[in-house]
Amino acid sequence: MDKDALIAAARHAATAAYAPYSNYHVGAALAFADGSIVTGSNVENASYGLTLCAETVAVGKAMADGKRGGLQAVAVIGGKAGYVGAGDPVTPCGRCRQMLNEVAQLGNTDPLVWCVGESEVLELRLSELLPRAFGPGALE
Ligand code: THU
Repeated sequence: MDKDALIAAARHAATAAYAPYSNYHVGAALAFADGSIVTGSNVENASYGLTLCAETVAVGKAMADGKRGGLQAVAVIGGKAGYVGAGDPVTPCGRCRQMLNEVAQLGNTDPLVWCVGESEVLELRLSELLPRAFGPGALE
């Protein structure tokens, strides 16, 4: 998995963020075992609480494309408009960790999550971000 390419895809995805309320633009990129990359950006709403995070949008796109596993790596980048990638690394919110876990657990992978910041890129396993996760396996 090409880390720089995945981060570049996430950065590009952030350019499509619809975030007129927070002005905080986020891009996420998911890398799959078949070589494909699925991206997402945050989608806000005038009813603020309905906002969809970039990672959740990416998971939704991937599932709608038929993905049911094979998730190998994730890159997340964000920042105020014009400053995407500046500042501290962006880590996925709790809901997004759970959304990512669904695809990961379906394919029995524990993807790397690259959280991009200005001076460092955190590299974490999803299992570190969401230990003892509840997932589809629990319902078997
Ligand atoms: N956001 C994401 O897209 N992903 C995260 O993991 C954290 C937050 C978005 C939601 C909202 O549009 C903006 O960032 C500010 O919270």
